[in-house]
Amino acid sequence: MAMLDLLIRNCALADGRSGMDIGIQSGHIVALQPALVADAAESIDAAGQLVTAPFVDAHFHMDATLSYGLPRVNRSGTLLEGIALWGELKPQLTQEALVERALTYCDWAVAKGLLAIRSHVDICDSRLLAVDALLHVREQVKPYLDLQLVAFPQDGLLRAPDALSNLKRALDKGVDVVGGIPHFERTMADGSESVRLLCELAAERGLMVDMHCDESDDPMSRHIETLAFHTQRLGLQGLVTGSHVTSMHSMDNYYVSKLIPLIREAEVAVVANPLINITLQGRHDTYPKRRGMTRVPELMAAGVNVAFGHDCVMDPWYSLGSGDMLEVAHMGLHVAQMTGQDAMRACFDAVTSTPAKILGLQDYGVTVGCRADLVLLQARDPIEALRLRATRLAVIRAGHIIASTAPAVARLILPGRPAQANFRI
Ligand code: FE2
Repeated sequence: MAMLDLLIRNCALADGRSGMDIGIQSGHIVALQPALVADAAESIDAAGQLVTAPFVDAHFHMDATLSYGLPRVNRSGTLLEGIALWGELKPQLTQEALVERALTYCDWAVAKGLLAIRSHVDICDSRLLAVDALLHVREQVKPYLDLQLVAFPQDGLLRAPDALSNLKRALDKGVDVVGGIPHFERTMADGSESVRLLCELAAERGLMVDMHCDESDDPMSRHIETLAFHTQRLGLQGLVTGSHVTSMHSMDNYYVSKLIPLIREAEVAVVANPLINITLQGRHDTYPKRRGMTRVPELMAAGVNVAFGHDCVMDPWYSLGSGDMLEVAHMGLHVAQMTGQDAMRACFDAVTSTPAKILGLQDYGVTVGCRADLVLLQARDPIEALRLRATRLAVIRAGHIIASTAPAVARLILPGRPAQANFRI
């Protein structure tokens, strides 16, 4: 009889299988079957509830997170005031405060079963304080959280002095991915030129690309087309992501019918950020107000990898959030009207397996041979997990429990009624 480090009994899996036992040894999944015959140093009874691979956030800003109110609150709530406010805060930043806020956010993430994050880091401040801080954080959290960093020219690659040289210096220091923000350059032509320069830089260095792309309501903002073009030209298929792409919400339908197949052919992934898109876009509209989120179901139907990102938590752009990717997916499925059963499951994938592919995570998944990174949820399936934004009963990293939360129990004191409400029919 095999002796395991950890055995999780009676799990439901996201693919619909139930009654599964997961055997873990030396940090990896070594067995996955019903009625596994084995002894283990430690065991967990999942009681038929869902065990999933961890949540993954494909789009975040860890240098700005938890800075809400510094140096003041965003009064208009707009993207542009947020960028201006971040500009006011930047000169006051210290490395110690950046590290402390990022580590605190990583604590929140772990508690919510979020164990991999791609974070953009602003490189426009020539001191590269935030780069140094987040490189330090990346190493410190490595045992429990995979942090991937994107060199992000927040103030524009061509618009901000020294941005290109700063971006190269950030990559030299070990930042993982090439970022960009073409719609924030001064002209469409400069935006296109920035996409070309950044894709060529990524190709030279063998790096992935993830650009803030067309984050506006302008239907003529078409940098995603340029991004797909250079991806194909340079052979970067499968390595490039367009983040936000909110302009696609407002584009002409005929143009989109040409654009989506191009994105698919170029194997460019798309990350929508529903909490932020729904609050920041449509700000110049009266009524009806646009939702602003990109065309998620249409992109998914074409075979494009589409993930949902959190983008912001308590920062100059967004005052709410807690690192809960189920909240992100819950908003995403509402905004995209993805309420069918398969569509809701696709929204769960958009905060788990799909962003894992986009980040290129190795050993991710609930399969024999994968690293034993798992989350036990107080839910029976992905749809119930979304509906209830389920409690993370246990969060496991490489076979070790690193966070737990007591089950949510609602007690009732009502004549002739049950003692608890369990929110299930
Ligand atoms: Fe962003």
